[in-house]
Amino acid sequence: MKLIFLGPPGAGKGTLAVKAVEILGVPQISTGGIFRAAVAAQSPLGIKVKEIMDAGKLVDDETTIALVKERLAMDDVQKGYILDGFPRTIPQAQALAGFSTVDKVINFDIPDSGVLVRLGGRRVCRKCGFNFHAVFNKPKQEGICDHCGGEVYIRDDDQASAIQKRLEVYRAQTAPLIGYYREKGLLLDMDASPMIDEIVINFKKVMGLAV
Ligand code: AP5
Ligand code: MG
Repeated sequence: MKLIFLGPPGAGKGTLAVKAVEILGVPQISTGGIFRAAVAAQSPLGIKVKEIMDAGKLVDDETTIALVKERLAMDDVQKGYILDGFPRTIPQAQALAGFSTVDKVINFDIPDSGVLVRLGGRRVCRKCGFNFHAVFNKPKQEGICDHCGGEVYIRDDDQASAIQKRLEVYRAQTAPLIGYYREKGLLLDMDASPMIDEIVINFKKVMGLAV
């Protein structure tokens, strides 16, 4: 199953992806996660993208497409994958069509007010990338990841100004993908506002899986 998770920043794409990996048995590919790992490693890619990400802007299409193309050539994704955060522009979607098929696109439907509450409280593990929330999903021990013991921190792009910018960028550059994939008959709309357990049920329902 080759799936795309499409939605605004903070819609819960990464959080559901972790559950969907267990349900479907295919890996999650998060372009944001790959970029954050590169920033942490201070690799040439990380040095190139850090300022862009912190400002809430998109990394250029050429760099992003090359990275995903290389990742999708690996053995572990031949049976399927969940693309979390890619494509994010029409040129990215067109490029993807040239090197992979897509079965379904899950459109995370959530108002800006919901996004702001989620991003305002997000906490992330620096080591394994797991998403926590200061109110909805706290780590058992403050500041420490339940899963790997890593440090739990606030992402640099979760500052108020970068959140606003990411929402603007989403509307201008990513939201047009909703129409693009709807026209191709691949889009499945999913209510992304409820709490995570209910979202898992919504996801199974839109996918036609047993609940
Ligand atoms: P990326 O990492 O993809 O960030 P994003 O799209 O802005 O999305 P987020 O990760 O912020 O949100 P999410 O939907 O995953 O929500 P989450 O599950 O964390 O990209 C970062 C940057 O990388 C971009 O800005 C760009 O610079 C660059 N980049 C990445 N891909 C690119 C591309 N294709 N092209 C160009 N540049 C690219 O949830 C948010 C919070 O809410 C968490 O705290 C979570 O615990 C909580 N939460 C989640 N679900 C629920 C729920 N159901 N109920 C209550 N709380 C919930
Ligand atoms: Mg994410």
